[in-house]
Amino acid sequence: MKPRNHTHTHNNQQPMAEPGTGYVSKGDAISRTDARAKVTGQALYAADHVAKDMLHAVVVNSTIARGRITGFVLGDALAVPGVKDILHHDNKPSTRSLGIFYKDMTAPSGSPFKPFHSSKILYSGQPVAMVLADTFEAARLAAGLVQVSYEAEAHETNLLPHLGRAHKPSPLKVGYSPPPKPKGDADAAWAAAPVKMQAEYYSGVEHHNPMEMHATTVLRGEDGHLTIHDKTQGSQNSRWVVSRVFGLGKDKVTVKNAFVGGAFGSGLRPQYNLILAVMASLHTQCSVRLVLTRQQMFTFGHRPETWQRVKLAAGLDGKLQAVIHEAVAETSRLEDYAETVVTWSGQLYPCENVRLAYGLVDLDRYSPMDMRAPGAAHGVHALEVAMDELSYALKMDPLAMRLVNYGERDESADLPYSSKELKACYTQGADRFGWAARPLEPRSMREGHELVGWGMATGIWDAMQMFARARAVLHPDGRLEVSSAASDIGTGTYTVMAQIAAAAMGLPLDKVTFRLGDSTLPVAPVEGGSSHVATVGSAVEGVCEKLQKALFKLARKMKGSPFAKARFADVRFARGAMRLKGVASTRLALADVLATTGGEPIEEKYLMLPHILKQRKFARATHSAVFCEVRVDEALGTVRVTRVVSAIAAGRIINAKTARSQIYGGVVWGISQALHEEAHSDHTLGRFMNHSFAEYHIPVQADIHDIDVMFVEEDDRVVSRLGAKGVGEIGLVGVAAAVCNAIFHATGRRLRSTPMTPDKVMSGPSTA
Ligand code: MOS
Repeated sequence: MKPRNHTHTHNNQQPMAEPGTGYVSKGDAISRTDARAKVTGQALYAADHVAKDMLHAVVVNSTIARGRITGFVLGDALAVPGVKDILHHDNKPSTRSLGIFYKDMTAPSGSPFKPFHSSKILYSGQPVAMVLADTFEAARLAAGLVQVSYEAEAHETNLLPHLGRAHKPSPLKVGYSPPPKPKGDADAAWAAAPVKMQAEYYSGVEHHNPMEMHATTVLRGEDGHLTIHDKTQGSQNSRWVVSRVFGLGKDKVTVKNAFVGGAFGSGLRPQYNLILAVMASLHTQCSVRLVLTRQQMFTFGHRPETWQRVKLAAGLDGKLQAVIHEAVAETSRLEDYAETVVTWSGQLYPCENVRLAYGLVDLDRYSPMDMRAPGAAHGVHALEVAMDELSYALKMDPLAMRLVNYGERDESADLPYSSKELKACYTQGADRFGWAARPLEPRSMREGHELVGWGMATGIWDAMQMFARARAVLHPDGRLEVSSAASDIGTGTYTVMAQIAAAAMGLPLDKVTFRLGDSTLPVAPVEGGSSHVATVGSAVEGVCEKLQKALFKLARKMKGSPFAKARFADVRFARGAMRLKGVASTRLALADVLATTGGEPIEEKYLMLPHILKQRKFARATHSAVFCEVRVDEALGTVRVTRVVSAIAAGRIINAKTARSQIYGGVVWGISQALHEEAHSDHTLGRFMNHSFAEYHIPVQADIHDIDVMFVEEDDRVVSRLGAKGVGEIGLVGVAAAVCNAIFHATGRRLRSTPMTPDKVMSGPSTA
């Protein structure tokens, strides 16, 4: 990748003298404050914590997809030197048995999986036993010697033959609401329209593969207190579940996640490693570490396999006359894992006739799980490929067609957008890419032995805000400590929160510390949905405003104070001082104000509640326009994505560097969704087969070429007081569709299933 640091709105070229020092503003491109700790190995992840006499746990997983365990033969495993015990459903210490106790804050409706609950097998890969030993090596050797016998029952893991039994999901899931009611008569309008398309799309299973595998280290204190280092996107969510499953009060358990090596949704729900590690620790009264292997990363949730049908119709002017979008996805027998797949199709473009439907098929698999831009990754993909198909039917440029169908309102919710600079994304992105030079006809561009194609797509994602608390302590020496039980899943939370606080207080960044990743800190939600900046960031700015007010109060009382009769609204904090707006002579150093406290720190707390009454009057979303170039070798079926321009409208960008990195990551994953990733099932065994990096393909450096990220000007005070909407998932949405559309432009082949592997490129339906 060749990052080119272009941007329209943020001067992110501004060099910082030394990353992490000096005065900063919102919008600056600031390097990670935790970068040094990470590259020097001082940052400790869940499996890095050590205790004296710590036991190592290794899990044994089911080899059948459905049935029950009939027995264990454990002699060989127990004979391995260093093995202390082997736990399973029949000998485990007591845990609560009701499903309700296992429900975490992000759980879908249904009854969550309960590790070691009974002999019943619900999916291939289910944990069935756990070996505890002095060393990881002994535990792993013994785990391989555990013999489990099963009585297998017929299982079903294949989605496509069962689309007919799709049912409506129970809507009881945070963040999920069912598709809106039909508008107009979409089927009649489609039938009557002069230009139309219809197609079916398929997306295979993807598994989360963060660099850090899921792991839990339980450190048992002398007093029995458990300090649990868990790989999670929310320490308080994990703490809550441990307390409920084991009946341990809040004072008996602390969960920490100071560093998280990527998660992408896999850490929203506590996974079986947490429950089992705690179980082992309570049983042995020892500290315990449980690390999953890369193969075991394929033994819990995944992005669901999804089938979709889209029918679009337009008038000769290119305006949409009918939108029909149906989707069926898999879920488990236990829970209705639901995501927003089709609703975007009623939201993105105005249309009088819209029919949207979404259903689930229960399979003998683990519940699917949120994965970066859940729902939109599939739904917007199908819509945006369908829009491209329609543009060819209209003989119209795909970007021109989207501009003809541009909407300033969210028609499906019948609300205005709090802000929507998608048009700027389209025009500025197209400009940067050079879209105007694009020939309309497929197979028009060739270079050497490769066909060249240009494609584009739109992206959309929610701009959410939850509630959070923050605490701030300003010390007499000018050091500021801000804290909240937020998480940094690799996105830059430490940095951005410190930046917000430093900018608000006019303190140098190296005087500000942000603490997160500890369940005892002030309440914060899971880091999910790209909402942490709008949520925790607003709490941080809120608590800093309280500090400002406290300083103002102190300043007023100072002898000869220029603030004696001032109003707080006129006070500005910058460069280590406070002053009255526009009156430089009123400058008062914060150090002088702090000297009046008699050595006492100033402490403030703040609860940030979203302004719901204001927010409900608007649709709130981030948008993007993605343009890409592919080069296709027809003889080999290989595709190279040689150029991507991603233009993002996500409100105010707080840190131009970490935000850009989020979008790079999203584009890389979009390319991966388009070309590489799929977990294949052997339906005879009911098992994911390619559960390793040798066979589950993710992009490597050589797959990634030029990615050009730009942020268009947007500032949204409805979503957050910072003007920020949050970035992350928006970087992924639409990328795979743009790649698919570019492949069509290059080859005339329309590939309607992802990943678009060489076999499909060579045999896909040619419609050119
Ligand atoms: Mo993300 S799927 O909201 O962690």
